[in-house]
Amino acid sequence: QFSGRLVVVSNRVADPRKPAAGGLAVALGEALAQSGGLWFGWSGAIDEAGAPGEGRLQTRQAGRVTLATVDLARQDHDSYYLGYSNSVLWPVFHCRLDLANFETGDIAGYRRVNRMMARKLLPLLRDDDVIWIHDYHLIPLAAELRALGCRQRMGFFLHIPLPPPVILAAIPQHQWLMRSLFAYDLVGLQSEADLSHFDRYVQAEADAKPVAEHQYRAFGATVRAQAFPIGIDVAEFERLGKAPEAVEIYENMREEYARRRLLLGIDRLDYSKGIPQRVRAFRSMLSRYPDTHSDATLIMIASPSRDSVHAYADLRQELEGLCGATNGDYGELDWMPVRYIHRTVARKRVPGLCRVARVGLVTPLRDGMNLVAKEYVVAQNPEDPGVLVLSRFAGAAEQLKDALLVNPYDTEGMADAMYRALNMPLEERQRRHRALLANVCEFDVHWWRGRFLQALAETNADADEAA
Ligand code: G6P
Repeated sequence: QFSGRLVVVSNRVADPRKPAAGGLAVALGEALAQSGGLWFGWSGAIDEAGAPGEGRLQTRQAGRVTLATVDLARQDHDSYYLGYSNSVLWPVFHCRLDLANFETGDIAGYRRVNRMMARKLLPLLRDDDVIWIHDYHLIPLAAELRALGCRQRMGFFLHIPLPPPVILAAIPQHQWLMRSLFAYDLVGLQSEADLSHFDRYVQAEADAKPVAEHQYRAFGATVRAQAFPIGIDVAEFERLGKAPEAVEIYENMREEYARRRLLLGIDRLDYSKGIPQRVRAFRSMLSRYPDTHSDATLIMIASPSRDSVHAYADLRQELEGLCGATNGDYGELDWMPVRYIHRTVARKRVPGLCRVARVGLVTPLRDGMNLVAKEYVVAQNPEDPGVLVLSRFAGAAEQLKDALLVNPYDTEGMADAMYRALNMPLEERQRRHRALLANVCEFDVHWWRGRFLQALAETNADADEAA
């Protein structure tokens, strides 16, 4: 497919010694482990005394992967990461214009950090490198690299949803942002829905001319877009589930909850994940189906995330109130309906937790893909599998059609789905699980990586021929 070294760039670079919150870091680690290469991004450290637009570069080796990271000066971190990336792009791309803060979202900081990343990365590059840049933090990075003379193949993958043009156009700099995508050879998106938003945007707002299917010419450049739904490393996740520690966690949990049926949610504490909506639906189930009392237990693990952004702090308060009220209203001396844990769960615990839960709740209001849905499927015992309740607004819903698909805004509908999942006959559970597992195994992280890199190689071959 290509002979050069793979260079992956993402804001978050996983430190193998720490639990990675978010599917992106885990997936990229696994995609890189296959071939080795260079992984470049933010170190995760904030340099309080650092000058804006500067960052100390550090490199170290982790197996076959070289990790190269830069620290961010406080001002850069606040304006690029907390500001423009997570107070403008994240909410708007998740269709939450109400939560976007266009005043504090500092475009200058976003550009400054992208420019700095380009400057730091450039000397590390080789001529035959293939550069794969990830996610909304780094949209203009290819344009910055090209401005410095970089001619290598460059692909971009957006891990979060691309909203419809009418929402995207609310970003004051939307044209500049989308124009930056034309510096790439290939733009990868999670879903067909995202791809159709891309097609519509470039034609309506950038007057782009189609040169082939999903390939457009505008701003003096040609770019191709395609959907590549991301997957998980199934074999690795299975191995994790078979490790003695994971088995022990499973056995302990099973014993502890022998008399209950568990519903499980594992998310970052993010407003896109629909966590309060999920608690409201659970509450509605308790109120309408009394046979669930002293039985159904909702375990919600919400790992801390971006808590310096206001919207996240507000969410935390709302959730604490809701969980407290539900436990106060419905709890018994020996039954706590909701167990809410605001901590990052160690990865080795995930398979056991998923396996013990009769119902996996993945109910975001909007999500690029959601890899927890896929992990839940793989963790199940095929003889007696649990049921995946999945939001129709997660990218995963395009693939995982055999889950119970729900609308997270419809409290009663979701409550009914939870009840149905808790009571689903074995045969139906097995049938759904078989179909889901086949899909998750076929479209795994290696498929994703291979497909993207192959398309990137081919895209360039087309361009070479045309030249
Ligand atoms: C999502 C984003 C990733 C991000 C992750 C964790 O999955 O698509 O780019 O790394 O959330 O968020 P954080 O802000 O902690 O990196």
